[in-house]
Amino acid sequence: MAETGRAGSGKHAATYGQPVNTPVILEAAATPTAPALVLRPWHVEDVAALVEAYRDPDLRRWTSSPLDSNADGVEWIRTQQQGWQAGDRFGFAVLERPDPASQRLVGNVVLKDVAFGKPFAEVGYWTVVHARGRGVASRALETLTAWAFGHFHAGGLEGIELLHQADNRASCRVAQKSRYEFDRILPAAPPAYPLDGHLHIRRADAGSLQGGPGNAGSGEHAAAQSRESTS
Ligand SMILES: CC(C)(COP(=O)(O)OP(=O)(O)OC[C@H]1O[C@@H](n2cnc3c(N)ncnc32)[C@H](O)[C@@H]1OP(=O)(O)O)[C@@H](O)C(=O)NCCC(=O)NCCS
Repeated sequence: MAETGRAGSGKHAATYGQPVNTPVILEAAATPTAPALVLRPWHVEDVAALVEAYRDPDLRRWTSSPLDSNADGVEWIRTQQQGWQAGDRFGFAVLERPDPASQRLVGNVVLKDVAFGKPFAEVGYWTVVHARGRGVASRALETLTAWAFGHFHAGGLEGIELLHQADNRASCRVAQKSRYEFDRILPAAPPAYPLDGHLHIRRADAGSLQGGPGNAGSGEHAAAQSRESTS
């Protein structure tokens, strides 16, 4: 299927609660209409492109951390790097690779709230405004999801949650395309969450696991309780 990403060339060093010293690099194949994607940890050198991406009002509206300056951007990138070090948050810059010699930032995708024995983690994502509508978010999410189940299912990861505000139709569509099934409405919780939200869940199954079939069990949905926005 054209929009299904694949885990690529990196060494997969992530482990629960352990520092990750080997860069994880994932790839999503090109489609007939869009270049291949490379997913890699954020670098401080990305700050200018990051702050530029955050000039978009829609991105600022739907994500929880408006970045107004290079200092904000560096702090945000440091937070992503600390997540890799702690082994509980795995944020990837998403780069489009129109040809082997060039790459440009087109988005962000993150797996967060990961802990050993915890059945659910959460994903978040955004795409820079000029790259929307060509499957960047859904292909990056599919790639991240395959990597996440491949590496954390054995440690207890049974499902991944995706939360969005109910009127974020594009995000709902990304969830559907990426097989995150609608689970339930999350009631509004003003002022942080003025409108109802949707909880979608992708459960570990034969199609999600790189290493074989898994068990879709029940567990506490910590991410749904926290109602953190997907950023
Ligand atoms: C949501 C977002 C990540 C989607 O990124 P993207 O790379 O354009 O996503 P994709 O191309 O993979 O898919 C987008 C889908 O939404 C659809 N879509 C876009 N705007 C829509 C709208 N207003 N109503 C319904 N569907 C919409 C597109 O048509 C596409 O579906 P299709 O492939 O069936 O045509 C991007 O719009 C964004 O970054 N928004 C701001 C930040 C944000 O909302 N992040 C998520 C927070 S929960």
